[in-house]
Amino acid sequence: MPLGPIQSFGVDFQGRVAGADGLTGTKSRVEPRMHTAVVGLQWGDEGKGKVVDLLTAQHDVVVRYNGGANAGHTVVVGEDTYALHLIPSGILYPDIECVIGNGVVVDPGKLIEELDSLRSRGIDGQQRLFISDRAHVVLDSHKMLDGALEEFLAGRSGSKKNRSIGTTRRGIGPAYADKVHRSAAIRMGDLKRGGDSLRDQIELACELHAHQLASLGSPERPDPKRILDDFAHWSDQLGERIIDTTYHLHDAIAQDKKLLFEGANACLLDVDHGTYPFVTSSNCSTLGIPAGTGMPGRTVDTVIGIMKAYATRVGAGPFPTELDDAVGERIRERGHEYGTTTGRPRRCGWLDLVAVRYTCMLCGVDSIACMLLDVLWGFEEVRVCTSYRLPDGSTTDRFLPDSIGLSGVEPIYETLPGWDGPINEDCGREDLPDGARGYLDFIESTLGLPIGLISIGPERTQTMVADHLV
Ligand code: GDP
Ligand code: IMO
Ligand code: MG
Repeated sequence: MPLGPIQSFGVDFQGRVAGADGLTGTKSRVEPRMHTAVVGLQWGDEGKGKVVDLLTAQHDVVVRYNGGANAGHTVVVGEDTYALHLIPSGILYPDIECVIGNGVVVDPGKLIEELDSLRSRGIDGQQRLFISDRAHVVLDSHKMLDGALEEFLAGRSGSKKNRSIGTTRRGIGPAYADKVHRSAAIRMGDLKRGGDSLRDQIELACELHAHQLASLGSPERPDPKRILDDFAHWSDQLGERIIDTTYHLHDAIAQDKKLLFEGANACLLDVDHGTYPFVTSSNCSTLGIPAGTGMPGRTVDTVIGIMKAYATRVGAGPFPTELDDAVGERIRERGHEYGTTTGRPRRCGWLDLVAVRYTCMLCGVDSIACMLLDVLWGFEEVRVCTSYRLPDGSTTDRFLPDSIGLSGVEPIYETLPGWDGPINEDCGREDLPDGARGYLDFIESTLGLPIGLISIGPERTQTMVADHLV
């Protein structure tokens, strides 16, 4: 794919897109795209929220297909910062529809909080939000179980080794486990339906979870009466938003609407293809889109892979390029690398292109968005991992998607010249300092993919976009 000239652009709150010459007030510069997927290529927090927000201007419906309130997607609009957890990041545009697909696990209380918080800031998303009747409900007892399991794995069992995953404790794993176990699971459609069968279902889930909590040594117990009251409230608040989103999305396509799929979490956290067992419990890669929405795999025309200019990880698990030193600390402070959902400090390291090449392959990425490039300003030199040395001394440029294999590798780096910053927001790729251009060229040639978007700050305007994306 040819890489067109890059221009800076801005999007105002109405979703209008402008060239470097200023806002045009219309969408006319932008050809409407077909269906696009945005997916994180590392261990999360790559800046997906920012890119989804920017691309929303060219789409009609933004769709979440996986994860739950473990995600934290940040969108910065001028002075305002929005942290979205369950609601798709397209919600800030007034005419955009947002869909929570069947692959998502929904904590209804958190969802209502999020809607209320947006409303208090002048954004009424309620009537534009559609929730799959097949999405599973995260109960309070799932969150209790998430915590209890983490405590158990951390050493309550008497084992000397801390085996905890470092989850967000948002109940994600236990809710997906119940989905697969089936009998005690509750779906959003059950919430809407209510009645005696829901009461039975809640009582069964509470009883089962109470046994599980007791066996893990946790003193917490779910209260079925409180849960029933919560459900009555949730059903009032959300009932009419719960629909068959599979038909809804197929109808949208039949009406020529453009869909934008928003991946939560990220490929290296994918339950099948990530650094198992230090992963989340859903298919976060684009492979999760068909199952998590009911759309055929061929629906997506363009896949945009979101990649930080370096690497971060929250929670436990192998991270070959991790920098446990002053450089890592500098990246953390410069990039404000603290979790959007939990506030935990993120582990930081150099860019690992072995990992990113693997996730580009897995997701069928067409174009890369290189985010947080500004965080690398001022380094004398920067390093990029291009292959791994294995314990037997041999080398490989293939990723090892299991935690035991990956924890034994040593990264092999290319060292590239650094560059000074900051740079003027109005500049294009060709105006970047030599070192930054060299860094981006190196990434493109190693991945064999174009960089279609370069981000040099959290705001919408701090973005350069290649012609092939707009
Ligand atoms: P997500 O989970 O992938 O949506 O990413 P998060 O929102 O958790 O974390 C990304 C953080 O980086 C947020 O605080 C963004 O506002 C911020 N951000 C996004 N792009 C840039 C950028 O180019 N430069 C800087 N400095 N910050 C950015
Ligand atoms: P966004 O969408 C970063 C990580 C957790 C933990 C592991 C399992 O903001 O990029 P879970 O609570 O899902 O059972 O935790 O996955 N994790 C994320 N890390 N960003 C995320 O989402 C994450 N979602 C889950 O830190 O290591
Ligand atoms: Mg995040």
